[in-house]
Amino acid sequence: MRSPLLSSATLLLGLLLQPNITLAEQTGNIDNDIRLLINAHKLTGNPAQGVNIPSIHSPKAQLGMKLFYSRTLGGDQSTACVSCHHPLLGGGDGLSLPIGVGSANPNIIGPNRRMKNNGDITVPRNAPTTFNVALWKKHMFHDGRVKKLDEYSIMTPDVALDTADALSGENLVQAQARFPVTSMEEMRGSFLNGEMNQTLRRSLSARLHKNWVKSFRIAFNDNHSSVADLITEQNISEAIADYERSQLFVNNAWRAYVEGDKQAISESAKRGAYLFFAPKSKGGANCASCHSSDFFTDEQFYNAAIPPIGKGKHKHDGDTDMDDQGCYLVTKKPEDKYRFRTPSLLNVEVTGPWGHNGAYSSLEAVTKHMLNPIKAAKKYTKAHVEQAGIDFSKTRRNTKTLLKSKIDVKPMRGATEQHVKDLVEFMKTLTDPCVKSRECLSPWIPPANSNDPDGNMLHGLRKRGQRL
Ligand code: HEC
Ligand code: HEC
Repeated sequence: MRSPLLSSATLLLGLLLQPNITLAEQTGNIDNDIRLLINAHKLTGNPAQGVNIPSIHSPKAQLGMKLFYSRTLGGDQSTACVSCHHPLLGGGDGLSLPIGVGSANPNIIGPNRRMKNNGDITVPRNAPTTFNVALWKKHMFHDGRVKKLDEYSIMTPDVALDTADALSGENLVQAQARFPVTSMEEMRGSFLNGEMNQTLRRSLSARLHKNWVKSFRIAFNDNHSSVADLITEQNISEAIADYERSQLFVNNAWRAYVEGDKQAISESAKRGAYLFFAPKSKGGANCASCHSSDFFTDEQFYNAAIPPIGKGKHKHDGDTDMDDQGCYLVTKKPEDKYRFRTPSLLNVEVTGPWGHNGAYSSLEAVTKHMLNPIKAAKKYTKAHVEQAGIDFSKTRRNTKTLLKSKIDVKPMRGATEQHVKDLVEFMKTLTDPCVKSRECLSPWIPPANSNDPDGNMLHGLRKRGQRL
């Protein structure tokens, strides 16, 4: 008979030699192991601590909502912010690449939206969610071209790198909200082609001078200013930003777990949480080295080797390379090539397709990619995308170029399908149930009979005749 001491020593040795063994399996108590990681990462469960969130019921956010849904701010009056950022579509549009001006039917929002005559899609990047935008502290956009410089100043594309834009407004979200109207593909079309951004914004504001006075007087509690001083591009962007910033959706099962409810998430999600937060030396995947904090992002930029699809953001006018170089386009630093901002993973279940260009239509597939980016990029095919009208003609060639650059997301050795499943289960605990409920989201969707100053608000159809 073998000595029990010897066999348990062999067992222990076996455990230590197994490459994927996790600390959790060693101690047998996964809750304790996750607790250590929660403490090490200084998580509280609440990413909104200390952030001032406007109420959707405030008069300013109410005005912002109307503006967000109104096509009057679109150069050719076909497109509104909501065309690409609808609350019922996870604060995005459910498309890999958005369609702004030139849509076949502007009333259709979401996966059935098409270009006129089934033309190719021209917007180069995926529309990020507006949910929880109030929580960003450093940058807006995939490439950070709106950036907080210090407590009082914000850089925007209207000014030189790392200089303050005096007209940026009060916060990052307001600074961002002044730009979609200037994009030809998103909202502008050929309206005032060639004019300066500020000239364009003034002209769009003037459109509201006729019918929106009452709404602005209420929102800004201002009965005295002249119409020209009341309805300005600054007040417009301020109101829109308050509407967006009121979209706080952070009450999820993971938070309940962090706050002490051990039953709040499943065993698979717990294994996923362990993988997500643990370092590679402890059998983890170390996702939290970038997706850090209660907001699940460090707000920095990395090359994750997401395959290039679609037209890509142009390096200059007439650029046909379709090779989107991300953050490099902003900073011109060689090391920033192909880097994009780490996305928050809150509500990630509903914010697909995923990646800065929507290269992946399933959360499993993008998770698999993140576990081994180079391998996934090499094997990538357009079957990962559900949307028609996307140009893949240079995807292979540009993937080769991309893979010659330094990839910042390192693979997890020995990752299995079970790891993918557990990570996905974990990420689904970051969904606030409100974002899946029309009733719960209804304060952010104007009712069909709401006062519509110039009859130009979009209510959104899934298909012709079918309410979104
Ligand atoms: C045609 C689709 C489209 C329309 C219309 C549109 N957006 Fe976007 N939005 C995008 C895309 C694409 C991006 C990302 C662009 C990039 O990062 O280069 C974006 C980025 C954003 C972001 C940044 C989010 C983040 O995480 O950094 C916010 C906020 C936003 N849009 C709000 C708005 C507002 C407000 C309007 C209306 C004034 C608007 N959008 C109109 C497609 C659209
Ligand atoms: C080195 C930093 C880094 C690490 C480590 C990392 N990520 Fe990411 N992640 C990013 C960046 C940057 C992006 C966006 C890349 C892009 O769009 O080009 C991203 C994108 C994602 C997305 C898509 C989200 C969206 O909204 O499009 C998911 C999901 C994701 N990561 C999950 C994970 C998981 C799971 C792990 C661990 C296995 C992980 N990430 C590890 C930086 C990182």
